[in-house]
Amino acid sequence: MDNRPIGFFDSGVGGVTTIPHIMRMLPNESIIFFGDTARTPYGSKSAKTIRQFTLQIGKFLRNNDVKMIVIACNTVSSTALELLRKTYTDIPIVGCITPTAKEVVKICDKDSRIGIMATKATVKSGVYEDKIKSLNRELFIKSIACPALVPLIEEGIIDNEIMDLTLRYYLDDFIKENDINTLILGCTHYPLISKNLKRLYPDIKIFSSSKEVATAVKMELEAADILSDKENAKSIFYASDLSENFVNMIERILGRDSDELNIKFKNLDI
Ligand code: DGL
Repeated sequence: MDNRPIGFFDSGVGGVTTIPHIMRMLPNESIIFFGDTARTPYGSKSAKTIRQFTLQIGKFLRNNDVKMIVIACNTVSSTALELLRKTYTDIPIVGCITPTAKEVVKICDKDSRIGIMATKATVKSGVYEDKIKSLNRELFIKSIACPALVPLIEEGIIDNEIMDLTLRYYLDDFIKENDINTLILGCTHYPLISKNLKRLYPDIKIFSSSKEVATAVKMELEAADILSDKENAKSIFYASDLSENFVNMIERILGRDSDELNIKFKNLDI
C-alpha cells in the first residue's frame, strides 16, 4: 500500500484525457498533473529539447514525492521514456506507446489498414511502427504527422470548421491512398477531436489509447503493490501557463466546474 500521489504530465492539456479513466478505475489514487502549456507543442521540437523539458518536469514531480510517473504524452514517450527510467530507477515510469501498441495488436488483424496520427516527433521516432511490428509483423501500418492539431486543440478550436478542414487537409488523401480502415490516435490531445473524426470518416474505426494507458497504470500499481487506499483522494492540476483555455479544457474533459478543481500555476524556473 502506498498513498502517495501519481505524477502525470504532458506538453499541455492532452494528457488530461487519461485522467477520467484513472479516476474511474482507481478512485483512491491522488493525482498531480503537470501540463507544460507555456512551451506546448512539443511535437515539432527537437529530441534534445523534449528530453531537457522532460527532465525538468520529472524533477518537479519527484520533488512532490510521487510514487509513479505517467508520461501522458506520446511525443515524450517516444523520445524520452528510457531517459526518465534511467533517471528515476526507484519508481515505475509508464508511457503511452506500449499499452497502445498492445491493444492495437489485439483489435487489428491482417485485413486492418492502420493509420497512426501523431506529432512530427512521434512519427519521426518510428516507435509505434517498431513496437506494433515487433508484436505482429503482418499488420499494415502507415503514420502521418499532423502538427497543426495540437495548437488548435490547445486554443479550444475544436467544434468548428477550422478543425474539420485541418483534419481533411491531413487525412483525406492519406486515407484514400493507403486504403486506411483503422485510425489510431497517437497523441493524447486527439481524443478531444474524436467526435470530428467520427463525423468526417464514419466508416473508419477510431482507436484512442487513453483507457489503455489507465489500464497499464493500474497493472503497474498492482504489480508493485503500491495501490492507495485513501478515502478522499485529491487531484492537483499544474500548468506552466495558467491560461483561460487550460482551465476551460480541464473543465470540459473532467465535466466539472473549475471551482471544484485544484488548478494551479507552476513555473519550472527555466
Ligand atoms: N499530447 C502530446 C502527445 O501525445 C502532444 C504533443 C505536442 O505537444 O505536440 O504527443
